[in-house]
Amino acid sequence: MRGRPVSVSRTEMVEVVLPQDTNVLGNILGGRVMHLVDIAAAVAALRHSRSHVVTASVDHVDFRNPIRMGELLVLQASVNRVFHTSMEVGVKVSSENTLTGERKHTTSAYVTFVCVDSEGRPHAGPPLVLETADDRRRWRDAGMRREMRVAHEQRAEKKA
Ligand SMILES: CC(C)(COP(=O)(O)OP(=O)(O)OC[C@H]1O[C@@H](n2cnc3c(N)ncnc32)[C@H](O)[C@@H]1OP(=O)(O)O)[C@@H](O)C(=O)NCCC(=O)NCCS
Repeated sequence: MRGRPVSVSRTEMVEVVLPQDTNVLGNILGGRVMHLVDIAAAVAALRHSRSHVVTASVDHVDFRNPIRMGELLVLQASVNRVFHTSMEVGVKVSSENTLTGERKHTTSAYVTFVCVDSEGRPHAGPPLVLETADDRRRWRDAGMRREMRVAHEQRAEKKA
């Protein structure tokens, strides 16, 4: 299977934070951010694989800065690493003030997708072609996160 460069599937999504997306303090709801993270990540995974994909897991997510109603929510997603049937997509979430253009990093999330056929059976995804030093750093870091994920799953299986 031919590899695809990281840049081919890199995705940026921008949303305006509207009143229905916020809590009583006028800050965006965490669940709304998670929904958009899943969508931005899925678009990158679909563009990379050109296959059906399903979300297998989302790593621990922190919200560092609130995002206010009327601000922009900027989601930048890129495929960090393809394993075999699964791939890790990283999503950086920032707020952008529409008047000043100031951006604040709010959240980084790592979402694992699995390529599946129309029956939901996993199949291999295309290899990822690394082009830049950042691509290589993210690829290495994704390998360490996968080791932690596998260890976590093994501990959970032992407990069950
Ligand atoms: C994800 C899914 C296809 C995996 O199926 P499976 O029978 O466990 O498949 P396998 O054990 O062969 O694993 C396939 C790949 O998924 C990865 N995987 C499975 N569970 C995972 C998890 N919880 N987190 C990260 N990766 C996972 C495996 O590491 C493997 O990756 P690799 O081929 O790159 O090494 C299956 O669990 C599923 O369909 N889940 C529901 C997905 C869904 O509906 N998501 C929407 C939200 S509910």
